Amino acid sequence: MSDPYLRFDDISVEFPGVRALDHVSFGANAGEVHALMGENGAGKSTLLKVLSGVNRVTSGALWIDGERHVFANEREALDQGIAIIYQELTLSPNLSVAENLLLGQLPVRKGFVDRRALRETALGVLRDLGEEGIDPATRVRDLSIGQQQMIEIGRALLRNARIIAFDEPTSSLSVQEIRNLKRIVKRLRDEGKVVLYVTHRMDEVFEMCDAITVFRDGQHISTHPTLEHIDHDVLVSEMVGREIEDVYGYRERQHGPVQLEVKGLKGPGIAEPASFDVRQGEVFGLFGLVGAGRSELLRLVCGAEKAEAGSVRFKGRDGLFTSPREAIQSGIAMCPEDRKTQGIFAIASVGDNINISCRRFFSRWKLFRNTARETRNARDYIRRLRIKTPGPETRIGTLSGGNQQKTILARWLAEDIDVFVMDEPTRGIDVGARRDIYSLLYDLAEQGKSVVVISSDLAEVSSICDRIGVMRDGRVIDVVHRDQATPERLLGLALPA
Ligand SMILES: Nc1ncnc2c1ncn2[C@@H]1O[C@H](COP(=O)(O)OP(=O)(O)OP(=O)(O)O)[C@@H](O)[C@H]1O
Ligand SMILES: [Mg+2]
Repeated sequence: MSDPYLRFDDISVEFPGVRALDHVSFGANAGEVHALMGENGAGKSTLLKVLSGVNRVTSGALWIDGERHVFANEREALDQGIAIIYQELTLSPNLSVAENLLLGQLPVRKGFVDRRALRETALGVLRDLGEEGIDPATRVRDLSIGQQQMIEIGRALLRNARIIAFDEPTSSLSVQEIRNLKRIVKRLRDEGKVVLYVTHRMDEVFEMCDAITVFRDGQHISTHPTLEHIDHDVLVSEMVGREIEDVYGYRERQHGPVQLEVKGLKGPGIAEPASFDVRQGEVFGLFGLVGAGRSELLRLVCGAEKAEAGSVRFKGRDGLFTSPREAIQSGIAMCPEDRKTQGIFAIASVGDNINISCRRFFSRWKLFRNTARETRNARDYIRRLRIKTPGPETRIGTLSGGNQQKTILARWLAEDIDVFVMDEPTRGIDVGARRDIYSLLYDLAEQGKSVVVISSDLAEVSSICDRIGVMRDGRVIDVVHRDQATPERLLGLALPA
């Protein structure tokens, strides 16, 4: 066999207190989609950042087409034809779509930016992405997260790279966008590029990828050049280093009386007055395709958006919350979906991020802090959710994506709350950690709390929820009991007729 086009040769990366990559060696071929898999914090993103010149290696080198490289900065990697679509968005929100697409390579004519060429090129890429609906002059901040992700991808395409890496690209894309992404990935492969693809989703791996490399704790575990003898269970045990029989581990339990009743809510994104109720001790799912109105509906429930009609009955009061703060004070909290813009305090420590509970944060009495208790609380959640961090004092911004997500979750779980509303709580979270999170949700339910989960993951909603409300086009189409909630049934309801 000939040498692979791209080879990682004995790569190590160290951060204070963390060995993120430990003598990693493997190769990827041109004309291949190569999946990178592993638990949260295994080192996948770090590896991609070595490739893009963002992270310095403490040992080792890259070989590209027979040449040895150690990149000192991003420019050097760009010059070698490497493009990365990062896990966290890197666009400039206040610039236009066209400017973002061509940032760093704006077309110039007679010393000025050639606006026309800029627009033409942008239109071409948008067409290619299947995003004809976006005007190149739109500010990026006005796009949905999924659209922003597509612009990131377009930017990488315009670099005309030889090696393109995607870091969990589909986690915020709609069904249509995912379809376009898959088409693009296939085309890049057919054009003979090396495509590296990080994902936690098995279905994508088996559908799209030709080879798989698995990492665990910064170490290279295996590289499978074909998928022939590989199945789901083999990958899971390679990733987590132990067998996991049933990720969902559903636990039967008694439900109490109705705790939250949503009656005829109407507002932005909701086409028809929406109603549902949630019992004490219940895990209630809201399933639907991206854009079905699930987050919008729950934002109305929690007072993050103003409802035009309807009411919410909770703890004997019937009305509407005027702000999320008011909802939290009565005992309903919404854990937001987009951790980068709404979730984390990036420069604060993991411990502070867990302890800045909304209530104390908004309280007038925050003069007094009980540090011993806070540290205990932080350590407790770090252990229960297996958050991979050197300690509570580590800055959250240095944690891997999935571990940041777990930290935010911990913040809300630490709250004294009766109804937890969670928007895609396991997005970007690995299989082992998902199990821990589900188990925590059942714990909450067993304590008589209610959990409302928004999820686009069919297997997840049908396995962990007691009842599931299905939404489509801004409407609650049906509420299905778990006995009847087969994936086929749920999908049948969620897809446009
Ligand atoms: N800039 C940094 N400073 C300190 N530690 C870091 C930094 N970047 C990454 N790490 C640590 O390196 C380890 C590997 O992180 P990495 O982001 O590569 O994981 P990952 O496999 O991409 O995980 P995920 O699936 O959660 O995205 C983690 O323990 C993380 O906390
Ligand atoms: Mg990552």
